[in-house]
Amino acid sequence: MLDPLAVRLQFLILSQPIDGHPLVYLDSAATAQKPQAVLDRMEKFYREENANVHRGMHVLAERATVAYENARVTVQQFIHAQRAEEIIFTKSCTEAINLVAKSWGRAHLREEDVIVLSLFEHHSNVVPWLQLKEELGVEVKWIDCDAHGHLRMEMLEEFLREGNVKIVSVTAQSNVLGVRPPLAEIIAKAHAHGALVFIDAAQFVSHHPTDVQALNCDFLAFSGHKLYGPTGIGVLYGKREHLESMPPFLGGGLMIREVHQDRFTPADLPQKFEAGTPPIAEAVGLAAAIEWLGQYSWEDIEAHEQSLLASASDAFTSIPGLKLLGPAAVAGYELRVARSRNPKPETRNLPSGCMSFVIDGTHPHDVTEILGREGICLRAGHHCAQPLHRRLGVAASTRLSVGIYNTREDITACASALITSATRLTGAR
Ligand SMILES: Cc1ncc(COP(=O)(O)O)c(C=O)c1O
Repeated sequence: MLDPLAVRLQFLILSQPIDGHPLVYLDSAATAQKPQAVLDRMEKFYREENANVHRGMHVLAERATVAYENARVTVQQFIHAQRAEEIIFTKSCTEAINLVAKSWGRAHLREEDVIVLSLFEHHSNVVPWLQLKEELGVEVKWIDCDAHGHLRMEMLEEFLREGNVKIVSVTAQSNVLGVRPPLAEIIAKAHAHGALVFIDAAQFVSHHPTDVQALNCDFLAFSGHKLYGPTGIGVLYGKREHLESMPPFLGGGLMIREVHQDRFTPADLPQKFEAGTPPIAEAVGLAAAIEWLGQYSWEDIEAHEQSLLASASDAFTSIPGLKLLGPAAVAGYELRVARSRNPKPETRNLPSGCMSFVIDGTHPHDVTEILGREGICLRAGHHCAQPLHRRLGVAASTRLSVGIYNTREDITACASALITSATRLTGAR
């Protein structure tokens, strides 16, 4: 069993009061807080190991290079990649998606080709493909979802049957609804039609184990900062054969084998895609975050976070006018029915990591701002998922997201502040 209070003590930032209120951080889907172990490791790097990597011949350059390349191996093991050179460090998940869209896309796509996205996608997994549409004239097709947040998989089948689908790029977990699309099915179907699959795992990796070989995805990307690591570091995984078929994305130092006045030859993987000085301390910090998280079992993490979302879904029923979006609404209902029969029902139908809602007669920004003044940190807006919000018929929503350090008390405090602010806002109209 996970002891969230013991976990929480490792995050000093969470112990600071905000205007006399305890800090309640329910915004980990935007960025997670960092445990002391990560801060200590990055400080140690700067105190004892800092130098540029790969090009020095002194002791610090050697230490920095070892730390940086060890971080790559830690990431490789974390996502079960076959080879370390299939791990490319980028500055973020966004940059990793851009790398594939620009490099793989320009090298392999023609005007008649099709890219398939799902309606769950974050703008980071939309705009790079739309840019490719503008540049090459390729078509972008969308897998719709129903009001319960289930993808209409028959649409994927139809697109694949129509032909010319070269890549399907989908999230592993929606940053709005917390839904996890059926990745195994998507990958098997896409591969059967010769299409590659890119997985945006930004919201997934901190909540579930990731195994790129078992998934058999072609590419996968995530950011360090949502995984209890630092900002400024992202990861692109790609199967070696795909990465080898792609030209460099950015040009500069470190990514070359030879440069002449009129030409260059790129370096081997992974340096081919790591132009310039990489985020060295950040890679080391990310590895520290992965190692730190590794002390907890995934079963315990998932059970803890699911029980927090179940409590929130339960508590929110007493808030007049509050509507959960997507599966949270359905799962919350099923949970309450199940609980009336069994005090410890299964919670596996609940969304993962986050849930979003609207309150009749209030604007998400107003509600979220009032809570913010009391130290309760939620997020309001379209969460960089405008196509999904449009589909759900709302311009914006409020999102509650959980991490390993959240407690039942966080949920209770949030629910009771929501009742007060919703009453105040609707009463004022
Ligand atoms: C599903 C998803 N994909 C991609 C991103 C982009 O991550 P970053 O801004 O760290 O590049 C986010 C960020 O919230 C996300 O939620």
